[in-house]
Amino acid sequence: MTRVTYATLSSENEDLHTSYEAGLRTANSWLGATFAGNGEPFTVVSPADPAKMLCTVHAATESDVDHAISVAAAAAPRWAATPWPVRVGLLRAAADLISDRCPELAALMSLEVGKNRLEALGDVEESADLIRYYCTQVESGNGFTVDMARLSDHEHTRSVLRPYGVWAVISPFNFPMALAAGPLGAALVAGNTVVLKPSPQGSYTARKLYECLLDAGVPADVVHLLPGGDEVGRAVVRHPGVAGLTFTGSYEAGMSIHREFARDYPKPVLCEMGGKNPAIITASADLDVAAAGVARSAFGFSGQKCSACSRVYVQREVYQRFLAALVKRTAALGVGDPVLRDTFVGPVIDADAVRRFESAVEHTRKVGRVVAGGTVLSREGYFVEPTIVTDLPVDDPLFVDELFVPFVAVAPVDSLDEALALANDSALGLTAGFFSADEREIDQFLDTIEAGVVYVNRAAGATTGAWPGVQPFGGWKGSGSSGKAGGGEHYVQLYLREQSRTVVS
Ligand code: ALA
Repeated sequence: MTRVTYATLSSENEDLHTSYEAGLRTANSWLGATFAGNGEPFTVVSPADPAKMLCTVHAATESDVDHAISVAAAAAPRWAATPWPVRVGLLRAAADLISDRCPELAALMSLEVGKNRLEALGDVEESADLIRYYCTQVESGNGFTVDMARLSDHEHTRSVLRPYGVWAVISPFNFPMALAAGPLGAALVAGNTVVLKPSPQGSYTARKLYECLLDAGVPADVVHLLPGGDEVGRAVVRHPGVAGLTFTGSYEAGMSIHREFARDYPKPVLCEMGGKNPAIITASADLDVAAAGVARSAFGFSGQKCSACSRVYVQREVYQRFLAALVKRTAALGVGDPVLRDTFVGPVIDADAVRRFESAVEHTRKVGRVVAGGTVLSREGYFVEPTIVTDLPVDDPLFVDELFVPFVAVAPVDSLDEALALANDSALGLTAGFFSADEREIDQFLDTIEAGVVYVNRAAGATTGAWPGVQPFGGWKGSGSSGKAGGGEHYVQLYLREQSRTVVS
């Protein structure tokens, strides 16, 4: 098949559909498996059809957690001492396997979390590209060893970046491959050993990622899968054998991990948390481009991306015209089974998400106006309509709290200054979008907006769709704790600590 790349990911690419359909047959043949730890079993079902059981997973017990971390700790010195070109070779082989298996992994992901064809293929290929990108970073940094200045001919100092030991990765359901593979790839190529605790709702996809690593030759004592829910996550976070940790998920969970993990001494903890991502549309904007960008970002993967656009501020002169364009775009989006070719919006992940959606709609009907959508679909699965709301006070909770459902609130503003003030009046600062034809306005946006990933005039996604090596992805303020973005130049180094080595001869 055509290699899936950022450039070939198009719904017009027939080849992608043919291989996805073959991948779906393979993924269906995987259903019914049982795997993993020694704890209580739980089943993973498809959000598009909760009667469809995908697999049974035995959660890791506390002693499974302890065992995996001890084995990873014992393997850590050997893995750290493995020359970096060998580690790079193994990780590149894993990335190639992920690419080779892309259609079936993507189809499994569609079944497991409800992601549509193109976005699932993108998630898998993004995983491979993240790993490749981090390999390239280690190569171009020459393993991060630098000769420092000499004070005398006899004294020679080298700065060497060294791994920490056992690194834990706690990954979310919404990018069940990429947000596991990225941190895991960076940690491994840097020379740490890894325990991965995926979201229970993405357990099967995580398991397949783990298999790619093992099949590529990453030693079994170097990478460990610990499936399960919050109890397993807590056991990992509290374990004294874990030297560093990456978490992706909600603000609340991330902040509690932050406080808990580095309780005794400062250990590196990288939390990528939520977003309440704004788009701003000025009077000079191309409104069709703006509507396309907002619709894709608000409703792609049913709004369940930390990068989703969930609030829009529009200059009053073009407010009604923009709203009409957005409603039209939204009406054209296919809602339905994520494995079908024409589906753009699949289900939300579970009944809790449906309840959040319902209560947001109910609240809007009291204090604002639902201008599109607003209904839970009466069919099997957790399907809700992509929803646009207006006429809410600008400090309404729906403009403040992350919802993680396909729901966007739109408000008119009188000026760019007002829009920027509202956009920045948030505890979060992950992504932001801007639509304007005016260079001065664009500069003002870029210089003022408080967000880690920003886009201007992008129809492909007002606030979503970052790709490794293209758009470094990481949040500011309450959205991200590392200050360095994934898929960017400074990320692998977060998994390393500096040692200054002076040798006198
Ligand atoms: N790469 C994903 C996006 O930007 C997180 O939407």
